[in-house]
Amino acid sequence: MTWRNRNLYLIGLPGAGKSAIGRELAHLLKKYQYDFVDLDAEIEQAADKSIARIFSEDGETAFRQFETTALLRAASSNGHRLVVATGGGVVTKPLNRSIMRGSGIPIWIDVTVRDAAKNVLADILQDRDRPLFRGMSADDLRIKLRELLDARRPYYEEAQLHFVSRSPRGDERTPRELASELLTALDKMSLRVALHPRFRTLMARSVFGDYPIAIGSGCAVRELPHAIRASGVAQIIIVTDSNVAALHGKTLQTALTRALGRLCTLQTIAIEAGEAGKNEKTLFDILRAFSDCNATRHNSLVVALGGGVVTDIAGLAANLYHRGLPTIFVPTTLIGQADAAVGGKTAVDLFGIKNLIGTFYPPKQILIDPTYLKTLPKRELHAGLAEVFKYALIGSRPIWDTLAKKVRRLVRGVDLAYEEIILESVQQKLSYVEADEFERGQNGHATRELLNFGHTFGHALESATGFGTLLHGETVLLGMRAAAWLSKEQNHLSEDTWREIELILGHIPIKARVRTTESAVLSAFKRDKKRRTTKKEEHHLILLRGIGEAFATTISDADARRAIDYMLTLV
Ligand SMILES: NC(=O)c1ccc[n+]([C@@H]2O[C@H](COP(=O)([O-])OP(=O)(O)OC[C@H]3O[C@@H](n4cnc5c(N)ncnc54)[C@H](O)[C@@H]3O)[C@@H](O)[C@H]2O)c1
Repeated sequence: MTWRNRNLYLIGLPGAGKSAIGRELAHLLKKYQYDFVDLDAEIEQAADKSIARIFSEDGETAFRQFETTALLRAASSNGHRLVVATGGGVVTKPLNRSIMRGSGIPIWIDVTVRDAAKNVLADILQDRDRPLFRGMSADDLRIKLRELLDARRPYYEEAQLHFVSRSPRGDERTPRELASELLTALDKMSLRVALHPRFRTLMARSVFGDYPIAIGSGCAVRELPHAIRASGVAQIIIVTDSNVAALHGKTLQTALTRALGRLCTLQTIAIEAGEAGKNEKTLFDILRAFSDCNATRHNSLVVALGGGVVTDIAGLAANLYHRGLPTIFVPTTLIGQADAAVGGKTAVDLFGIKNLIGTFYPPKQILIDPTYLKTLPKRELHAGLAEVFKYALIGSRPIWDTLAKKVRRLVRGVDLAYEEIILESVQQKLSYVEADEFERGQNGHATRELLNFGHTFGHALESATGFGTLLHGETVLLGMRAAAWLSKEQNHLSEDTWREIELILGHIPIKARVRTTESAVLSAFKRDKKRRTTKKEEHHLILLRGIGEAFATTISDADARRAIDYMLTLV
């Protein structure tokens, strides 16, 4: 294991020589396919204007947005390794620090304020863009740099490598000499760095505020303390369920206590595990617990640690209490990681109807750590695969083909392939959610609603069998097979394609036996909250025209009955 498959991010004061050293470092690392990227140059290219103009015309906030986008691009540069020279202020945004930690090694190029000031002055004299320092005297410049260093030092100190460099462009050591010293320092810390968890970061766009999603082994325990520190709260409330509390609660609590010390108090609320606990009573229990520990909007943060039930109910409770406590989701099931935690929907079941009450309330951050899946029972894992295949079926033939090839391996158990399939599902989900966050359709066309493929029949079966007999994912799997069958029966889907879908989905086992009747399922089907039409004999449904081509349509009572009959032959 080595650090040479990771990006190297040079951080530090303006004038630290990050670009000069970075260029030389990339040159020394050419044989390992490293390229050099100057983040400021990337930003100028993307904005099509100079940094100075971005600052003067759009302001610093806009500049920081460009900076994060450029950083995300560098972090996801597939196949390329990069030495990235960053701007001095990149570390002020927690998200930027998280992106750098997840995709590479942040290296603090530490220079004296005197040297930094000398280099910045030289840049200004040579007409290089330094908008923050324009027009300053040498003394003012030193004062400003000292202030910046004092404010940013805690962030620079988070770097994995602290490289003390003097006179980067002066007479003592050349940038090439410094780059070569840096290389030696990197080799010395090789093992420690190589063992650090890697993760990828996606940005979810939302009208409530964009939020990052980190995906990678070990990212939850590593990133949560950083996220909490950045939020500035003094109280953490972990909402989890009894199973997850027993398996993973202690590890997370210990990691938080070790990292945060007395900075925050820590409370844990463990609810009943499974769908049976996703009801109004549990919701009120959580709200009471929030009140008992005097949670407040500005001082408390809810961490939802668990599957879709936990993120759904904790999200709803957090949204209702004081009109919104901030949340971070740490999903621990495949359904949670590939689907439920993403997109901002919260809910509980009520009056025997699935997800009858709920809100849209996205978290501030999602940390997806696939290693949690190692303790997940096989049956739960298989249920989760249903949602993963759903994303391919409704939106992407190429993803379906890849999944179809891997289906036996995926059914056997968790391996490295899981991180990829979770990433793909999250990307797919985000594309629907971002186009239609509140599921209202887009220009008269269904968008987010397409995600309900298989769910209308599935939810009806889940309600009719009593929540908990079949797992949510199992009912979705059966619902998708019923919807695919109906698509074929109505000549939207060719017989061959339907057979292909049946063949692949048939590999995902369903162990439970159910006792229900067609009329019980039909009755639940008619009560589904996603009904669109007021005509009793018509039902709104998502069907398929092909693999990767879902569409919304209306079906008759008789067709619904036939599809339900077919679904019940499968269990
Ligand atoms: N909000 C959304 O957009 C959305 C999307 C899909 C599903 N959902 C909801 O998600 C729920 C289903 O999610 P789920 O399948 O994650 O259910 P779940 O939360 O009940 O978890 C399933 C079981 O796995 C256990 N478990 C969780 N993590 C574990 C781990 N790492 N190791 C061992 N056991 C673990 C739980 O204790 C539980 O018994 C449904 O209520 C569904 O409505 C919501």
